[in-house]
Amino acid sequence: MHVLVAHASRHGSTTEVAARIAERLRELGHDATLRTARDRAPLDGHDLVVVGGSLYTGRWHADAQRFLRRHRGDLGRVPVAVFAMGPRRDDPDAWTAARDQLESALAKLAWLDPAAIAVFGGKDPKPKHGVVRDLRDWAAVDAWAESLVGGGPTTR
Ligand SMILES: Cc1cc2nc3c(=O)[nH]c(=O)nc-3n(C[C@H](O)[C@H](O)[C@H](O)COP(=O)(O)O)c2cc1C
Repeated sequence: MHVLVAHASRHGSTTEVAARIAERLRELGHDATLRTARDRAPLDGHDLVVVGGSLYTGRWHADAQRFLRRHRGDLGRVPVAVFAMGPRRDDPDAWTAARDQLESALAKLAWLDPAAIAVFGGKDPKPKHGVVRDLRDWAAVDAWAESLVGGGPTTR
């Protein structure tokens, strides 16, 4: 499969997750292209498009939303998977809030019917009491990437 992974990040942690997804897909034998969501290049030739963005003050990154709107025509013909990140506190309320925030962004894109939706833990850009809070779960990111392409290695 040819997969495009588009990312919308302020401080880089979402980009790192997108890069990990692309890397995992390559390990499984797929072609994966990593692109910022600001890239306006056409989406020709992809079998799956993954769009990730961070959440800030209740909103999914504007570049992720713009990317989906800009490519609406092409995205009607190809499966789309989306992810957001993410909670900086590992408590159920933070996870629920993040999921709701992503869902309300997606509700504004009623034409979009994502093949998969995920919320990953975030990385706080600023240390708190000298500690960088990083809830990113790389095994969960890998597992999600695998689920997008049916789980197993492919031969091309
Ligand atoms: C000022 C600020 C506001 C944030 N607001 C939210 C939020 O409303 N919901 C949420 O789930 N995460 C929120 N986060 C956590 C970020 O989504 C998380 O740190 C993410 O990993 C940042 O991604 P980036 O490094 O790609 O910019 C916030 C982080 C900061 C610094």
